[in-house]
Amino acid sequence: MHNIVVLGAGTWGIALARLLSVSGNKVTVWSAIPEEIALLDKERVHKNLPFMVIPDEISFQKDLRSACLDKDVILLAVPSVFVRETAKMLSEFYQDSQLIINVSKGIETDSLLTMSEVIESEIPQTQVVALSGPTHAEEVARDMPTTIVAACSDLALAEKTQKVMSNPVLRVFTNTDIKGVELCAALKNIIALATGISAGLGYGDNIKAAIITRGLAEIKKLGEAVGCLSETFSGLAGMGDLIVTATSKHSRNNRCGYLIGQGYAPQDAVNQIGMVVEGINALPAAIALANKYHVELPIIRAVDSVINHGVDVKQAASDLLGKEVTIELQKPVVDISFEMAVMKSAARYEDGGQSMKRVITYGTFDLLHYGHINLLRRAKALGDYLIVVISSDEFNWNEKHKKCYFSYEQRKALVEAVRYVDLVIPEESWDQKRRDMHEYHIDTFVMGDDWKGKFDFLKEEGVEVVYLPRTPEISTSKMKKDLYDANAVDGESKTSHDDINTDPTK
Ligand code: CTP
Repeated sequence: MHNIVVLGAGTWGIALARLLSVSGNKVTVWSAIPEEIALLDKERVHKNLPFMVIPDEISFQKDLRSACLDKDVILLAVPSVFVRETAKMLSEFYQDSQLIINVSKGIETDSLLTMSEVIESEIPQTQVVALSGPTHAEEVARDMPTTIVAACSDLALAEKTQKVMSNPVLRVFTNTDIKGVELCAALKNIIALATGISAGLGYGDNIKAAIITRGLAEIKKLGEAVGCLSETFSGLAGMGDLIVTATSKHSRNNRCGYLIGQGYAPQDAVNQIGMVVEGINALPAAIALANKYHVELPIIRAVDSVINHGVDVKQAASDLLGKEVTIELQKPVVDISFEMAVMKSAARYEDGGQSMKRVITYGTFDLLHYGHINLLRRAKALGDYLIVVISSDEFNWNEKHKKCYFSYEQRKALVEAVRYVDLVIPEESWDQKRRDMHEYHIDTFVMGDDWKGKFDFLKEEGVEVVYLPRTPEISTSKMKKDLYDANAVDGESKTSHDDINTDPTK
């Protein structure tokens, strides 16, 4: 049993408060609006969830300090525009052991921080867990089965949240890419506005599916440029939440878009909805991020032009549909991880933020052995991302007059399967190394110390050059020789013994 306070008595906050209460936790709800607290306490029903009875066990508090006192979990469910203010107030009496879970979705316009980052900037001693996924309050309030993601770079905290929130109707998955999860949470609301607008204009399911698909591609493109993991965008907090928000009648973003598509002025549509429309709040930050990372977001920009720049909704739709058609997939599949790796790194460098340390090593890696693995493990430990450049068959033959046992593709597949390796590319010429250092934004060049001194010239390219001690005794050449010798001896002994059983069935 946990002692939990839910900050914010909106639809989602109150639905979660009930869920946590019926799971056996002691739950208190606080809101910045005293009248709201008084009404909920008296009527035991929320105006947006009239069918849901608020259990008597839930207590209501108007004073934030008293509400948070001695609670082991603080769940923040205030609208995104009030997150900083609430976190600031909370910082005055926050106790270090308290777990903060945030369900508010958005990006702060000026700072471009996600909601958990905003809270952490006000309460630096805490690490926040973000909770997000395809979760309509209306369904959770009816105990309908739901899944959600608990995201935190500290997996232990995500797992703690998983335990707190899990319930027979709520399945909680963990994810360490909190930034990716929060970007999905904020940006999918804009795509839901777009699907709403398209329905309001009278368009059908074909274009709805297109907006969802291309909208997710926009979110993913931006997320990857920021440094998030691409897998997050096809997960529950990404595709999952986008599908539910962009298609469901429960989504206020979708409904607000529908009204705009029908001809309502944006502000009139918001008034009609009568609740916060987070997609509208997220637009300025989305546009600022797109500009900062030079990412094209046609759907998001079209929504912004209607909401914030007075562009006629029919005009915006026809501009979007009239855009020049481009290729959906531009590169052979094998090249994509390489492209992403370069893009991610470039984005980090441009941002001036903390960059990932990239390590590179070169070799033949024929008949992969434990000496190679030792080298790769230590190379990876020198940074965060390891690129292995394997000499191609042509390069081996033309330049080194060497023939490998395994082909380049076979050696590549083996090295790619090593857990320390992030990317494998071919080595095709001697002068490639200097270029690679720049193309891949390399920090450290690594070789075994049989090459000591041979690549010091790469320091001129601004990289650190490290020679790691070779693992004694083992080498591909030695393996080949030993196997050859053993075979020769074995062959000799076989021919000299006439008692060898040549019948394979015995
Ligand atoms: N390496 C190592 N320890 C070993 C063998 C290789 O640290 N016992 C390192 C090399 O110094 C090089 C990388 O692994 O940095 C790839 O070496 P490669 O030449 O492919 O392997 P070898 O086993 O040395 O192959 P060969 O005998 O054909 O030279």
